[in-house]
Amino acid sequence: MSKNKKEDTLKKLEKSFDVTAAGMRRIARDFHSEMERGLAGKKSSLKMIPTYVRRPTGAEKGTYIALDLGGTNFRVLQVELKGGGRSAVVRAEKFALRKAHIATTAGALFGFIARSIKDFMAGARLGAGKRAHLGFTFSFPVKQAAVDSGILIRWTKAFRAKGAEGRDVVALLDDALGREGVTALTVSALLNDTVGTLVAKAYEDRRCDVGVILGTGTNACYYEPSRDGMVINIEWGNFNKLKLTPYDRALDKASGNPGQQILEKMVSGMYLGELARLVCADLVKKKALFAGRPAPVFGRAYAFGTEQMSRIAADRSKGLSGTAAVLKELGVRKAAPEDMALMKKVCDMISTRAARVSATALAAVLTRTDPAMSRAHTAAIDGSLFEKYPRFSAKMKDALRELFGQKARRVTMALTKDGSGKGAAIVAAVAAASR
Ligand code: BGC
Repeated sequence: MSKNKKEDTLKKLEKSFDVTAAGMRRIARDFHSEMERGLAGKKSSLKMIPTYVRRPTGAEKGTYIALDLGGTNFRVLQVELKGGGRSAVVRAEKFALRKAHIATTAGALFGFIARSIKDFMAGARLGAGKRAHLGFTFSFPVKQAAVDSGILIRWTKAFRAKGAEGRDVVALLDDALGREGVTALTVSALLNDTVGTLVAKAYEDRRCDVGVILGTGTNACYYEPSRDGMVINIEWGNFNKLKLTPYDRALDKASGNPGQQILEKMVSGMYLGELARLVCADLVKKKALFAGRPAPVFGRAYAFGTEQMSRIAADRSKGLSGTAAVLKELGVRKAAPEDMALMKKVCDMISTRAARVSATALAAVLTRTDPAMSRAHTAAIDGSLFEKYPRFSAKMKDALRELFGQKARRVTMALTKDGSGKGAAIVAAVAAASR
């Protein structure tokens, strides 16, 4: 491909991924109307799920067990709430989730969970004969009618276990625990990971009013004044008023849940690498990359991960040796400097769009409760993308500045680790006290 034509191709590509300031304002407007429709029970891409969780006082106390299901690992934690906004994770164990657990049946998945809990409880010194309360962080859209039960609406991310959709996941857990003979636990609370993250931070910071996850999947929740301050789980990953590129359409079409989780597919860690792969494959086809020599990695779905993108983004060496190393691992032996520069650009375009779309969604949530941005807000944020992807949070901050000007300073984006552990303990404590 000639130099001019290549430049032209690249310009078009950049334009298709660009989210302008006007574009962000339009997204925020649509986001507000989808929030309102969802709250009013009208058809909307935002489910706006009531969670029956309210602001913690900070005085909640005691020892609790927390479960965290929804990412790459399943975790069991023992958490101590000390009151005065202080808490500690006393013990935590990670269990690797395999395809056999997440993509077969609900029985296999919950059986595995119950056995992991049994192992964990064997080492938990809770006092003989004592019952422990458990908070279950379950990071999927769930329809709740109370804090301690909820029906799985549908799986997202890579989860597919059959026989769980439409069922109460607390009942599934209780049954599995019963089968394993674990009787000393009461499942007191079921919560989304965004809710755990929000509550964990709100326990120590009164200004915290939004919880966000930017990891394998993405979502947010907030305190809704018109519902008496109840936390609403937005399920923002499903927002669909967004301008899509042909790559987004191809990714969606080939995914396990076509037509759903459109924002998530533009933003979250499970998909960014795949988007980059699709763009690169197209550039190879157009002979704008690797002189048109097909590299096998670009022909295999999900062969290029967000983690690799992240390493390419972090590479600031002059000769792009870090990028060359990533490519070598992927089986691309010879890459010209301009090929590596182009790949870096592709990663940048995709992650910048993700950061700007998520910052816009965050801005929309903040202005729902504070339209003039007259107060200080803390957004509790967790997830590998936010924590680890180079300059992701800085790009979000830039976008907030474009939207809010000086008032962007009123937004603190606080990395909140272990929300799904500590937050689950806090929600379980409140629920257990009101039993
Ligand atoms: C789920 C949300 C969850 C988010 C982050 C999404 O796929 O639908 O419930 O909060 O991932 O884990």
